[in-house]
Amino acid sequence: MRDLSADDLNAVLDNRKRAFGPLSPDNVEQWRKMISPILPEGRYLGAFDGTRLVGTSRINRYEQWWHGRPISMGGVASVTVAPEDRGRGVGGLLMRSTIERCAELGHVASALYPATTPLYRHHGWEHAGARNRVTLPAEGLRTLGSRDGGVKLRRVGPDDVPELRRILGRVYGAARASGPMATDERFLRVWLADENDYAYLADDGFVIYRWDGDDIDVDTLVAGSEATARALWSLVGSASSVARTVTASLEPDDPVLWLLRERSTDLVEQRRWMFRLVDLASAVGGRGYPAGVAADTVIEVDDPQRPANSGFWHLAVASGAGTATAVRPPAGAEVPRFTIGGVSALYAGVQPGALRRAGLLTGGTPEIDDVLGAVFAAKPYMIDYF
Ligand SMILES: CC(C)(COP(=O)(O)OP(=O)(O)OC[C@H]1O[C@@H](n2cnc3c(N)ncnc32)[C@H](O)[C@@H]1OP(=O)(O)O)[C@@H](O)C(=O)NCCC(=O)NCCS
Repeated sequence: MRDLSADDLNAVLDNRKRAFGPLSPDNVEQWRKMISPILPEGRYLGAFDGTRLVGTSRINRYEQWWHGRPISMGGVASVTVAPEDRGRGVGGLLMRSTIERCAELGHVASALYPATTPLYRHHGWEHAGARNRVTLPAEGLRTLGSRDGGVKLRRVGPDDVPELRRILGRVYGAARASGPMATDERFLRVWLADENDYAYLADDGFVIYRWDGDDIDVDTLVAGSEATARALWSLVGSASSVARTVTASLEPDDPVLWLLRERSTDLVEQRRWMFRLVDLASAVGGRGYPAGVAADTVIEVDDPQRPANSGFWHLAVASGAGTATAVRPPAGAEVPRFTIGGVSALYAGVQPGALRRAGLLTGGTPEIDDVLGAVFAAKPYMIDYF
């Protein structure tokens, strides 16, 4: 294993095409622009057989919100093994190196969109949330706006990137959001420079959208107030003379679903993502918790890949903040025992009852399950795909 450098990019691109299919010349150019700055940061790992590249894995720098507070998250992407080298453990080697590198880069957790589950599950990632692509009627959105156009919108340019990130932080914090992330500023700049993406900004929200054939594809729409949500959605919906539908990544309880005049059947396609704690204590300390729920309990965790996460942890949660402190095995207490995948899914809001019946949690009591389920309660989603 070694870090990839600019000299490796042709081999990386060849491997990538063999894994995910061809890229257009425009996409190759955009890919090079996005990849080049992250190479010196040790965010692109290569597995070699002699001098021949056999596998890759990339770690994107993200912030991910959990109950309204951001933690540092490594988004794993571009996991590829050359076709002729598959099935001999290269994928596993890549994942073990990726976990270690996430820790070195200061990411307290990691997430990824799996094309296949077992490779990641064997290494501690577990199914946690989804990207919900919801198809809405364009005309139903058009009519959400007010005639006086109360909210001022302006076009976004690449220089607005810091403002977009500030808005995400404010909206996700106030909404106590779980799961959505803010992407690396450098990536956002490259995307916003694409002439086929249209972006509009209000004081407390923004939208980025594009045409998809005769329909509209909303990449991101966040709004901190009803007035801004109405203004942004109706701007998108104003395409309804041409577009019949608008497809957008939404929160599970996205406010637009309560603004629409009609709602009976939701058309949702879910792309699942998996999540792994990398530094359990920092991740527990960094996340938000609902005010009014508390925990004071010990859990046991087994993390074969990162033994620093293994052992007994005292979880203390109160007044919206939490800590995890390593402790000795408590005498005589009924301690719940989690696999690393199980505790990662718990962190992401998967209820202990489900984890127990899936074999990711044993021991403990139904009362401790209730407490853990309440403090980590979340309906995690993501807007971005990577
Ligand atoms: C997925 C991929 C990275 C796995 O690499 P690999 O070197 O063959 O993986 P390993 O030999 O280390 O196998 C690890 C585990 O994954 C499983 N696995 C590998 N390829 C798989 C596939 N296509 N479908 C389901 N499981 C698969 C293996 O069976 C093994 O699990 P097991 O121990 O329970 O048998 C490789 O097949 C690849 O590059 N595929 C195309 C691109 C892709 O899908 N990348 C993942 C994007 S999220």
